[in-house]
Amino acid sequence: MMMLGIETSCDETAAAVVRDDAPAGAARVLSEVVLSQLDEHRPYGGVVPEIAARAHLDHVDRLVAAAMHQAGVGFKDLDAVAATGGPGLIGGVIVGVMTAKAICAVHGLPFVAVNHLEGHALTARLSDDVAFPYLLLLVSGGHCQTLAVEGVGRYRRLGTTIDDAAGEAFDKVAKMLGLGYPGGPAVQAAAERGDATRFPLPRPLKGRPGCDFSFSGLKTAVRQTVEKLPPGALTERDTNDLAAAFQTALVDATLDRVARAVALFRHTYPNGTALVVAGGVAANAPLRKGLSSLAERAELQFVAPPLRWCTDNAAMIAWAGLERLRLGQFESLDFKPRPRWPLDPDAPKAVGAGGVKA
Ligand code: KG4
Ligand code: ZN
Repeated sequence: MMMLGIETSCDETAAAVVRDDAPAGAARVLSEVVLSQLDEHRPYGGVVPEIAARAHLDHVDRLVAAAMHQAGVGFKDLDAVAATGGPGLIGGVIVGVMTAKAICAVHGLPFVAVNHLEGHALTARLSDDVAFPYLLLLVSGGHCQTLAVEGVGRYRRLGTTIDDAAGEAFDKVAKMLGLGYPGGPAVQAAAERGDATRFPLPRPLKGRPGCDFSFSGLKTAVRQTVEKLPPGALTERDTNDLAAAFQTALVDATLDRVARAVALFRHTYPNGTALVVAGGVAANAPLRKGLSSLAERAELQFVAPPLRWCTDNAAMIAWAGLERLRLGQFESLDFKPRPRWPLDPDAPKAVGAGGVKA
């Protein structure tokens, strides 16, 4: 089967054509195009929803045409069209959903609304044919959660953040240190030149029961450390040392929480196959290294899909669409975009000092 996928839920406009009758990996992806809006949002130090929605609207038709052209196929060759139906910035989600619905209406194709998180969750099957059940750590700018992936549409959340997402913490700390946006890659680069032992920082929730994450206390501790240094005189060495201390603390705290999720997963699913990581923070080298040895100790395969499929992309949306279509799961054209759409609606709400996050 062949699927066109469209992703517009955050700051990437993306389209891809994916087929499922090819070996795992790149052979399945006939084309993928992605336009990052980083430059539009950079002056604001974060994603501005209204700017994002307008940019998606400006570019989505051209990107869909480019993906179809690069794949060398026409709409009549497709079995269906999938678009991210949520969760995400609603203006952008509407743009992708309306584009997909229009193509489906004109060409008489089924429309598959994909949960963006399900796209991330199933990517390891596009790249590596990982068998169910597996444990997923989704770490991005908007999410930080561990999920037992039991099957298509069957997810059990083991832990989630009670305040900030991990990528959000990287971005905010980068801003405090004057390292620019997005912060993750800049903090990692500075940390490589720094001494992680000079500034002591907390490891939120480390050693505590449960699998939830928390990063806002760590972020506050970085701010307080900056404020204690001579005003306006953050030297390059200070910046590097603080970046190193922050990254070490964040990775340490994250690995503690994931280790607990791994133990719980191992206990609940004796036939569990793998530990999979997805999301932009999966690019972080020390985190990857730690996760890989965690998996090895638990005798799980460690799967980190290629980076272009860890960050937001349309190949994962097309793939999740294929997985759902194979099971006969698709929507009618009156599907309504969902700004909030938890993968595990039965998961207890994580309540932190900052409120409630899905
Ligand atoms: O998945 P993604 O591309 O977008 C969403 O948030 O959906 O993730 C982007 C996040 C940003 O917060 C960015 O700072 C972070 O991933 N990131 C990293 C690294 N590369 C990107 N964080 C830590 N280390 C990195 N090398
Ligand atoms: Zn994402």
